Amino acid sequence: MAAQLQHPEYSPGLQGIPAGITRISRIDVERSSLTYRGYDVHILAEHTPVEETAYLVLNGELPTKAQLDAFTKNLVSEREIPSKVYDVMRCLPTSSHPMAWLQTLVSAVALHDPESADNSHDANIRKATRLFAKMGTVVANGYRVVHEGKEPVAPDSSLGHAANFLYMLKGTKPMQSAADVINTSMILYMEHDFNCSTFTARVIVSSNSDLYSGTVGAIGALKGNLHGGANEAAMEMLLEIGSVEKAHGFIDRALAEKKKIMGFGHREYRKSDSRVPILKKVGKKLSEDLGNMKWWDIAEILEKDMWDAKQLFPNVDFPAAWLYYLLELPIHVYTPIFAVARTVGWSAHMIEQLDSNRIIRPQSIYEGQMTRDFVPIEER
Ligand code: COA
Repeated sequence: MAAQLQHPEYSPGLQGIPAGITRISRIDVERSSLTYRGYDVHILAEHTPVEETAYLVLNGELPTKAQLDAFTKNLVSEREIPSKVYDVMRCLPTSSHPMAWLQTLVSAVALHDPESADNSHDANIRKATRLFAKMGTVVANGYRVVHEGKEPVAPDSSLGHAANFLYMLKGTKPMQSAADVINTSMILYMEHDFNCSTFTARVIVSSNSDLYSGTVGAIGALKGNLHGGANEAAMEMLLEIGSVEKAHGFIDRALAEKKKIMGFGHREYRKSDSRVPILKKVGKKLSEDLGNMKWWDIAEILEKDMWDAKQLFPNVDFPAAWLYYLLELPIHVYTPIFAVARTVGWSAHMIEQLDSNRIIRPQSIYEGQMTRDFVPIEER
């Protein structure tokens, strides 16, 4: 009989296992708070344009006025994507999900970046800035071209990052309140420690691969509904509920059927998600301004029932879902918007990884067959 292997301790899903050191963001589980480079995300979300927080996350310090102006100017000048990437867009199947073609298009953008293989710190900061600038264009124009059969819209240099994204997506200049919602949600979506997609990106570059490869892998990780895909799944669920009357009792029925409620729960937070109160505040104001409290009311019922049933709370994807719906954005761009914002966090982490790299290569616990005698095919 084969000897039993001695198994080291392990934690399914790597729960509670530190997998590296970072100086980029910190989740304080006790206080349910989140800081980027030491600054409270609430303050950043309420007081900065997304460009300013992006600068902070990438560079480690808040910019001076001159630095922010230069960074913003750089982002504006880098928004357009190569014409050959538009050619790729036009070949994509309309049935594909934007998160699937986003991987293809980021790969295509990489092929046109002469610095794509340069892993020096400065080149990586330049690429991260370019990538953040271009991601909004790729998502907005990708959606127009692939799913709506429309022509791309050229970026508008007079608009900020959030407003320009909405402008390219919809083809008309957005109201300030709509741009503000996108600005806030992008700041909240920008960075979140060693989450699944960020860790994926760090693993990829740890082989001395490049920022674009890490980003493409991270997009694949974000797509799943246990991660970024939850904002789309949450909206599908809300639409299925459809009314305040039907919201009552929905949670109990769904839990009885062992269903996961999308947009609820979190691996790290225990009592609440630090980002939710800010989005809810913005969402309540938008609902009042639009005279449409339906989604707010349904969400409040689900939140109360979920807490009563399982002490589980909404995560950032839950309010983001109905907020984006109120803005009349297509549901399949919700997760890509998350990707546009998280590009900054991914890049910061990949740069941090590459700046003092050691390849990430954990162990597994082997539970398969031990050494077996080979039997030639004609004897099996
Ligand atoms: N709906 C119903 N039950 C949930 C739940 C949810 N959204 N989230 C967690 N739970 C339950 C699990 O069923 C499990 O219960 P059990 O111990 O009785 O079996 C327990 O809570 C632990 O959940 P688990 O999935 O093991 O936690 P995790 O840390 O591995 O996963 C998430 C964290 C975020 C993936 C998980 O909460 C989830 O799937 N949420 C829904 C998807 C989502 O919103 N993702 C976005 C995250 S920002």
